[in-house]
Formats: sequence, structure tokens, C-alpha cells
Amino acid sequence: MHYRSLGTTGLQVSEIGFGCASWWGQVAFAEAEALHLVHYAIDHGVTFFDTSPAYSRGNAEPRFGRALKGRDLSKLVIATKAGTRHAQGRVRRDMSLSAIEQDVVQSLKTLGLETLPVLQLHGPAADELTPEFLEGLLNLKKRGLVQALGANSFDSETLYKIIASPVFDVVMMDFNVLRPDRKALASAAQAAGKGVLAGMPLAMGHTGLQVLKLRGLRDLWYAARAFKGHRRDIAQGTRFQFLHHQEGMSGSQAALAYVLSHPEISCAVVGTTRMHHLAENISASGMCLSPDLTAKIARAHAGK
Ligand SMILES: NC(=O)c1ccc[n+]([C@@H]2O[C@H](COP(=O)([O-])OP(=O)(O)OC[C@H]3O[C@@H](n4cnc5c(N)ncnc54)[C@H](OP(=O)(O)O)[C@@H]3O)[C@@H](O)[C@H]2O)c1
Repeated sequence: MHYRSLGTTGLQVSEIGFGCASWWGQVAFAEAEALHLVHYAIDHGVTFFDTSPAYSRGNAEPRFGRALKGRDLSKLVIATKAGTRHAQGRVRRDMSLSAIEQDVVQSLKTLGLETLPVLQLHGPAADELTPEFLEGLLNLKKRGLVQALGANSFDSETLYKIIASPVFDVVMMDFNVLRPDRKALASAAQAAGKGVLAGMPLAMGHTGLQVLKLRGLRDLWYAARAFKGHRRDIAQGTRFQFLHHQEGMSGSQAALAYVLSHPEISCAVVGTTRMHHLAENISASGMCLSPDLTAKIARAHAGK
């Protein structure tokens, strides 16, 4: 596993991270299997893990906390979120400072930590990032509850505002082969000293037509998620199927090598529930795209 600096936080992270979200956190996915994946990841050099109290109907973060029991946490960089929480059957959003502090206190307890290595606001709106709010956020760091502050967003205006604020050390955005438009944002973030986390680095599997591979309940769940909110990605993904016909690397490895070919990215945070996928993703660390494949991706981005 190769490691990269997380911006100017002083933290080093594995370039392949593990996302404790989605199907991984669902009650319907066997707990033993979910924990085994995390343990395999730790044992094979993954040090960055991302979760949230809002993920997987509220089951992801407590499950991840159980996975961490008895493990040496000193080398792990654990990231969770604040501002959203799953309660009474739905995701509740409260981006007030008091709610964020409550979220932090609860997450510390759930994860068995004394300080959170990385806390990310979960989808703040640009106009919520007022000077008073940012000052309050900084206090969490001053009080030692949080080591690094970040935010996760898919909205470009908000992302630029996060990057412009010295309060944030880290930013998480959707960064994958279907999002060449994110390169400028990632470069701006790196220039501002931020650690950049690539969420959805496999474009949710759409380059490999994942929605057509219905092997069981989890795939139906993935397909339902895709048709609900990511139809454009399903269509765009068809133009990148050539990634899956390369010698010496799988399509997912090619997609991860594309993300990691950007020095701006500190970590590609992948979600998986299959052990052979996890092993494949971990071995993508250190893989490089050939000049031919790089050119082919550039042509696909240009619509040629
Ligand atoms: N999705 C979001 O809206 C979002 C938002 C903010 C942050 N994030 C963060 O980003 C992380 C990753 O996002 P994500 O899980 O939505 O998208 P992703 O990592 O781009 O893709 C996950 C999908 O790819 C499949 N997959 C994983 N490895 C594979 C392999 N080697 N070969 C073939 N298929 C493979 C997974 O299925 P299998 O289970 O079958 O492997 C899953 O369906 C999350 O866990 C979270 O921490 C996500």
C-alpha cells in the first residue's frame, strides 16, 4: 500500500481508503462479513476509513465502531461526519453548532475514540458557512475533540467556499473518471493546502455497467440507488467500458489508477461488500495508467 499526505494536516493516509457506508452498513448485510472486510483492509495496509451517523439507516457508524474493537487505532485515520443523523426512520439534518457538537460527542462514543482524526460536515450549504459558524467549528479543534476539520459536498459553489476557508483542512468530493470537471476544484484545494478525499472513486461501478449485474439483494439495492439518483452516470458510464478491457488491470483498478494519477488526491475512498473486490482495490495502489489508456480517457472526456 502506498501512503499520501492528507494536505497539511500532518496525517498520512493509505491511498486506497474504505467507505463504511451504503450496503456495507445495512442490517441486511451480514455483520460478520462486514467486520471481516474492515479487518482485512486494516491487515492489508488500509488506514483511512470514512463513515457517518447518517449512513445505512444509522447502522454504519455503530457497526464500524464494533469492527474497531480490540484493534490498534493509533495508525488509523478515521473520518466521520456531522450535521446529519439517522433518527426515527429518516435522515435528519441540523447544521447548527450545538447539533454538530452533539454529533461529535456521540460519534466519539460510538467509535471508541477520544478525539476524531477527521470530522467532516455532511453537505453544508454555502450560506451556512458564516464567520461565526466557522469560529464555533474551530473551537471543536481547540478543545481537542477533533484533529482535522473537513466538509463533504457535491455542489461546486459550496466546495469552492470550503476550499477558501482556512478553518477546513480536508475536503471530500465526488471524484472519478466520470467527473473530469472536478480536476480544477481538486487543484484549487491542493493549492490551498487541503487534503482531498475522492468519494465514489469507482463512479459507483457505472463504468462496468453494474446496474445490469443483478446477482442478489445487494445488487438490486445498488441498482435502485443508481436509478433513483444517478441516471446520468449510468448513461455516461457506458462510454468508459473500455477501462474493463485492459491488460494487467481490472476495470476497477483502471478507474482507481485514474483517480490516483492526480497528485491532488490524498485517498480514493472505495465502498465494497465483496472480499475479492476489496483485495482487487487494495492491489490498485501503485498501479499506473499507460500513456495509451490516459489518451483514451482524455478522448472520451472530449466526447471523441
Ligand atoms: N455515494 C455517495 O453519495 C457518497 C457521498 C459522500 C461520500 N461517499 C463516500 O465514498 C465512499 C464510496 O462511495 P460509493 O460506495 O457510493 O461508490 P464507489 O466506491 O465509487 O462504488 C461502490 C460500488 O462499486 C462496487 N465495487 C467496489 N469495488 C469493486 C470492484 N473491485 N469491482 C467491481 N465493483 C466494485 C461496489 O459493489 P460491491 O459491494 O459489489 O463491491 C459498489 O456497488 C462511501 O463509502 C462514502 O464513504 C459517498
